[in-house]
Amino acid sequence: MKTVGILISGRGSNMMALVETGIPVGLVASDKPDAAGLAWARDHGIATFALSPKGIGKAAYEAEVDAALRNAGCEVIALAGYMRLLSNAFVARWRGRIVNIHPSLLPKYKGLDTHARAIAAGDTVAGCSVHIVTEELDAGELLGQAEVPVLPGDTPDALATRVLAAEHRLYPQVLKEFASR
Ligand code: GRF
Repeated sequence: MKTVGILISGRGSNMMALVETGIPVGLVASDKPDAAGLAWARDHGIATFALSPKGIGKAAYEAEVDAALRNAGCEVIALAGYMRLLSNAFVARWRGRIVNIHPSLLPKYKGLDTHARAIAAGDTVAGCSVHIVTEELDAGELLGQAEVPVLPGDTPDALATRVLAAEHRLYPQVLKEFASR
C-alpha cells in the first residue's frame, strides 16, 4: 500500500479515522501550528509538520510542504479538513494522487456551508464525497459517497454531526482502496 501524507487545518477527526485503519501514514502536516490534530498525531507516534504561510507567501509555503511530504516518503496526499486552496502548480506536481473529503453529495454544494444550503433547499438526503483533487474546486473524479437523512428540524450543526460520522466510515474505506491501486 502507498504511504499517505495527511493535510489538516483543525481538529483532524477524519485524519484520526484514517490513521486508525492502519493505512501507512508518513506525515500529518498542517498550515496551523496549533491545530489540535497535530498533538493527537504526535501522541500516536506519527511524524508531523506544521508551517503557517503567513509572511512567506503561498509558493514558498507549498515548496516546504511538498519537501516535507516527499522526505517522509509520501506517495499519496489525503486532505482531511484542510481549508487552504492548493495552487495549480502543486496539484500538477501531485497529479491524480491527492484526494479530499467534502461534506456534501457532489456535485451539489461545492464550497462552504454545505449543510445550511442542503437544509435551506429542503433536501431530504445529504452526505459526503471523496474525490480526486484537481485545479477546479470540488470537481475531481468521485471515488465514493455516503448518504444520510436530513431530519425535520435539523440545524446545520446537527446535520454536520450526522455527516461527519458518515465521513469517518467512508474516507478510510475509499482511501485504503485508492492507496492500494
Ligand atoms: C469535515 O466535515 C470535512 O468534510 C470538511 O471539514 C471538516 C473537517 O473535519 N472538509 P475534521 O477536521 O476532519 O474533524
